[in-house]
Amino acid sequence: MRRAMTLAIWMAFVYCSIFAWVERTPPNVRALDDGLALTPPMGWYPWNTFGQEPQNEKLIKEMVDALVSSGMREAGYLYVGPDEGICFYRASDGKLTTNLDRYPSGLRGLSDYIHKRGLKYALYTDAGTHTCSKAMPGTKGHEFEDMRQFADWRCDYVKIDWCNTEGQDVVKAYTLLHEAQRAAGRPIVHSLCSWGEGSPWKWAAAVGHLWRTTEDICEPGRADWETAMRIVFANERLFEWAGPGHWNDPDMMIVGMPGLREAQSRSLFSLWCIMASPLIAGNDLRSMSKSTLQILTNLEAIGVNQDPLGIQGHIIRRNGQISIWAGKRLFDGSQAVLVFNQKSSSADVRVLWSDIGIGNAAGLYVRDLWTHETTGPHADGISVTVPPNDVAFLRISKSKDFPLPPIISTDTYLVSLRATGTAPQTLSATVTIRNQGSVELPLWRVREGPPVWLSVTVARNGQSQILTNRISTAGLRKGFYHAVVRLDNTEPVSGRLMSAIYYDVDLEVPNDVGDGSK
Ligand code: GLA
Repeated sequence: MRRAMTLAIWMAFVYCSIFAWVERTPPNVRALDDGLALTPPMGWYPWNTFGQEPQNEKLIKEMVDALVSSGMREAGYLYVGPDEGICFYRASDGKLTTNLDRYPSGLRGLSDYIHKRGLKYALYTDAGTHTCSKAMPGTKGHEFEDMRQFADWRCDYVKIDWCNTEGQDVVKAYTLLHEAQRAAGRPIVHSLCSWGEGSPWKWAAAVGHLWRTTEDICEPGRADWETAMRIVFANERLFEWAGPGHWNDPDMMIVGMPGLREAQSRSLFSLWCIMASPLIAGNDLRSMSKSTLQILTNLEAIGVNQDPLGIQGHIIRRNGQISIWAGKRLFDGSQAVLVFNQKSSSADVRVLWSDIGIGNAAGLYVRDLWTHETTGPHADGISVTVPPNDVAFLRISKSKDFPLPPIISTDTYLVSLRATGTAPQTLSATVTIRNQGSVELPLWRVREGPPVWLSVTVARNGQSQILTNRISTAGLRKGFYHAVVRLDNTEPVSGRLMSAIYYDVDLEVPNDVGDGSK
């Protein structure tokens, strides 16, 4: 009897250990090989501020213009478009069709507007029968046609919600949507939004690029610090599952929304940066304060978020309302460290080098990512005073230099040319790739694949690179031609692949063109 009991206890122990191991150990998941989102996606989405109203073409275009005029585009913000903005319905033939009352240029017209301005197009849908408010159709049963339509609208990023999915299996549903996206042939960032249901961190890297880990961060229009704190600590625990091309998503940011003080916005932004979270701004960009813009465009903080190693930092010590975050090695061998004070009074905190696992033979240099000052060398550690609800966001290094990783933007993602006459012509147009990082990049490599009528060459121009698109119309028949060009690059310090750049090339040929022979 005793032996049987001992055996049962022993078996239970073995079973629990295996179960705990399976639960905790991140699998050796390979991210998708499309080169997308190798650093956390950045952009702007309307939901947190506006909800459904008044999402329409005018609002999205105003935000696009604000992304460009504010300098956010150059700071890396890229994806923009409607969330659940009642932008399409399902017509009687089953096809998704633009709601022209709200989007008079059509969803393809909006796409061109966004691409021309050097930004990428984000759309929203749902894996169930309807979106959350039931105002728009979901993709259930129409996965392939809908993803084809999204590709035809030239969408680059699609957030897929999980409302009205009774009876659906979360893994199967998102896997099918991934297959439908692949079949549609356009490279699209797949943002899963099951709010953590089905533990997507365990499987979604194979079918998407980011997954929501929690509930919504706020009700539209109302920033909520308490909810944000719950989300931060829930997302933190999943740090081992994130990496290049597959990210934990604690939801769009509430930085700069009414209801938050400046220190709280700074804290949240720093937390999103050290957690390698997608930086999707959610505030009204048309009326943001100078301090909100300064927070959102702090390149030194963004550099931590966009680090090519893609490690999600986590808490290494927590004492009541003070937490120390580290574990985020950066591309140059330095480390990011965040001290977060949730108290309503200031806190004096000592960070020891031995705690963050970085050697200190000759003392270490410390860069404050908010004051932009470097001090040191410091032996053993550093003491910081952190105001209430604020942070000290630091980089620690053996070297005095704190290089910025690549922060990429382009002046356009749409090259659009029109031939004239019937004689062969050579047409050309450029795309400029800008890098705000401090390390010079190798030349971008054009992937094989442009059609015979198009050639792309790459040349350096200071920190920028210019892509020259040359189109030869010889022998082309009357019609519309389209190509998607892909470029790849490798960050030279870390040797890591960078996110691929894709852009569209359109050519209109109004008449048949001769081949040049008399
Ligand atoms: C869900 C998502 C939100 C937003 C709304 C739209 O709640 O989590 O981010 O997209 O749906 O209804």
